[in-house]
Amino acid sequence: MITDVLARDTTVQRLEAPEHPVPEAASSALAAYPADLSGDYYVTVLKKLAKTRSVKRYLEVGVNKGNCFSQIACERAIGVDPAFELKENVTNGKKDVRLFQMPSDAFFEEVDVRAALGGPVDLAFLDGLHQFEYLLRDFYNTERLCAPNSLIAMHDCLPVSETMMSRSISDTMRLSKGTRHEGWWTGDVWKVIAILRKFRPDLRIVCLDAAPTGLVFVSNLDPANTALSRDYCRIVDEFASVPNTLQAVSEVYETQPILPTSAILNGFDHSLYFRA
Ligand SMILES: C[S@@+](CC[C@H](N)C(=O)[O-])C[C@H]1O[C@@H](n2cnc3c(N)ncnc32)[C@H](O)[C@@H]1O
Repeated sequence: MITDVLARDTTVQRLEAPEHPVPEAASSALAAYPADLSGDYYVTVLKKLAKTRSVKRYLEVGVNKGNCFSQIACERAIGVDPAFELKENVTNGKKDVRLFQMPSDAFFEEVDVRAALGGPVDLAFLDGLHQFEYLLRDFYNTERLCAPNSLIAMHDCLPVSETMMSRSISDTMRLSKGTRHEGWWTGDVWKVIAILRKFRPDLRIVCLDAAPTGLVFVSNLDPANTALSRDYCRIVDEFASVPNTLQAVSEVYETQPILPTSAILNGFDHSLYFRA
């Protein structure tokens, strides 16, 4: 697995024929996929975006130390994590902050988020458990709480090596030791992009090269749409058998542009990218 970082270096590819040659068309997608993401840091992007859009109500799934949560300026914020490790001042100017120490599935079942926030979620950041079926549930549970012009951001959907893509964090820790990406874990949440494109073509999806592992924004939300929850088991069965490889990732992004973070940070008209 560690060698796949090297395999993307064209010099290495010329010198060493792969054991299982990849068909030419497929390998061109991989060659075009970025080896590193050089856009703004994901927290910077979310912080600026929250400010530009005058976000009032914020939801974060997977808060950890509060690095991102603390940076979001808003009136009311709600966060969920089964194991908080807070190191930052998560209140930081907010009027009302609520934290729920539980897994997100229980949170969405038990907590009346709209009531707690006093209205629909304006911006959500989904960064909880890094397995695609968890992110899929976090996505449709969050969409129900949004307005059509709210934004859902998802982290880690643009992995840049296979070592970080393992479904098990302990495998990633072992495999990434001594590599450039030691300890980076994205899991296989990238599959959610492919799922949304297939089962929810009505959504607007914007993928950004935010360092280190991308940010994906989804807008044109439909809180009443049940396509994902209704067919959840079938979708998960189908996508569990999709190979969790950089080749498969690169094929998704072959037809889904990866925009520079500057496209939405530098005073551009947001209605070009998101539902206004
Ligand atoms: C990468 S960290 C989040 C980092 C944070 N969003 C930031 O940018 O500063 C992922 C977090 O997801 C949490 N997590 C794990 N399983 C979860 C679940 N089922 N529901 C919600 N959060 C979960 C972990 O405890 C961990 O703190």
